[in-house]
Amino acid sequence: MNHLLSTEDVDRETLEQLLSDADGFSEVLSRPIPKVPALRGKTVATMFFEPSTRTRMSFEKAAKALSADTVSFSPGTSSLSKGESLKDTVLTVRAMGVDLMVVRHKSTGAPWRIAEWLDIPIVNGGDGAHQHPTQALLDCLTIKQRFGTLDGLRIAIVGDIRHSRVARSDIFAMTTLGATVVLVAPPTLLPVDAEDWPVEVADDLDDVVPSVDVVYLLRVQTERGGASVFPSLSEYARRFGMNSARFDRLQDHAVVLHPGPMNRGVEIGYDVADDERSLILAQVTNGVAARMAVLFRLLGGEHDA
Ligand code: NCD
Repeated sequence: MNHLLSTEDVDRETLEQLLSDADGFSEVLSRPIPKVPALRGKTVATMFFEPSTRTRMSFEKAAKALSADTVSFSPGTSSLSKGESLKDTVLTVRAMGVDLMVVRHKSTGAPWRIAEWLDIPIVNGGDGAHQHPTQALLDCLTIKQRFGTLDGLRIAIVGDIRHSRVARSDIFAMTTLGATVVLVAPPTLLPVDAEDWPVEVADDLDDVVPSVDVVYLLRVQTERGGASVFPSLSEYARRFGMNSARFDRLQDHAVVLHPGPMNRGVEIGYDVADDERSLILAQVTNGVAARMAVLFRLLGGEHDA
């Protein structure tokens, strides 16, 4: 593995190795001094051309926990506003002596372009509505910690699938690991290529709720046009929101995930978000360990470190 751009081409063995490394790093993060010297001397650049709270901070924390240095780029305060191109921007940062770049960009494919221009590993931190592979890894880690395996689980991914890079990444990672994925969305929020994916499709959440082990809720991507295909957000909440009534109809062992940022009262009920079977903060915690596993693998850290 030279880069991590998509989950679509990552095989089961690689996913399982990353999850197993992430488990080890979870243990490191629970120590009084949550740090190992594995990537001492390396520098990780976070290049976020789109807003982020969790993903950027999580990568920075992951790099630091491996003793790497971090540098970070923000478009608002950069020379992009003076007209510098994407290519010149990343070549400039590379020339400072950066060993790996994490890239988030609103355009599909941007991390692939950058991987062609540069001679260092690139990690996709989210490109448009396309892919967000480390989110899928932390989601699978969270589910695996809860159930021991993804094999045989039934996972519903609910909502704005069409504009969701999280859904695209999760579908391939979860099915590669042996889960069955059911997409639950109105036809207007399903992409045309969904029929080529290894998934089942449903349009009534109430039909699906009693039979699933995991419900994965998505935020309506208003910035990508997600709200415009629906009469109103309250209508969306009524049909596709995980409210208390639906939550009560889940199997006792079933859990709820959400990548954040949440819109409480829309895709997730106010109280549901705080229930102990909502694993949303566990996902955030696991994000650091999952990203450590990715940085470690791409930067050639030694396993015994
Ligand atoms: C997601 C993203 O930016 O793709 N958030 C995240 O990285 N945890 C999901 C979203 O914005 O809805």
